[in-house]
Amino acid sequence: RVIGTASLALERVQLARPDPLVRPADFDGPGRRPARPFDGELYPRAPVGTCSRWGFSELRVLGNFADANQAHSLLEQLARDPGVNYVMQKWHWRVGALCEMAPDGRVGVDPVCVLGLNQGRGAVIYLRLRTDDLAGFRRYDAIREVLAHELAHNEHAEHDSRFYKLMREILSEMNRHDWRRLKGFRLGSGNAGAR
Ligand code: NI
Repeated sequence: RVIGTASLALERVQLARPDPLVRPADFDGPGRRPARPFDGELYPRAPVGTCSRWGFSELRVLGNFADANQAHSLLEQLARDPGVNYVMQKWHWRVGALCEMAPDGRVGVDPVCVLGLNQGRGAVIYLRLRTDDLAGFRRYDAIREVLAHELAHNEHAEHDSRFYKLMREILSEMNRHDWRRLKGFRLGSGNAGAR
């Protein structure tokens, strides 16, 4: 069986299969040198940030507003949010595009999802960023809560008990891993104010 080098490398990254002919880098038997930390070339770390395997590939805002750049900053803030990143890594989610939802678009289609929409199980997630009067933007935390709802739709299409269980889990983990909420939190105290 012929295996291309690219697919072989990919296989190593994905499955981390040991090669029987090569002593593992972390081999640490008697009389051996201690394991050296791997340089990360073959096993990319899962970084916190937008360059990870998991996260959002693209951010899109509506072009017909003068403050479109502000809307873009909001989406960027969400994509970089440490709490959001944590859940993206944990569930291995890659969302194709995180988009601003048209203010009047789709409202009422789904009584629970008037503020957001998940298309194709995470292919595209739309979020309403602006207030109803279009005078400004909705609160960041409120938008992020809708994002948690839409992310739960990556796994469950219906608003059933499994959906809400996952949504609550996502929300609580978003909050627990958001360092901005951890004022007064001491490293090592173990309980990071799950609210
Ligand atoms: Ni929904």
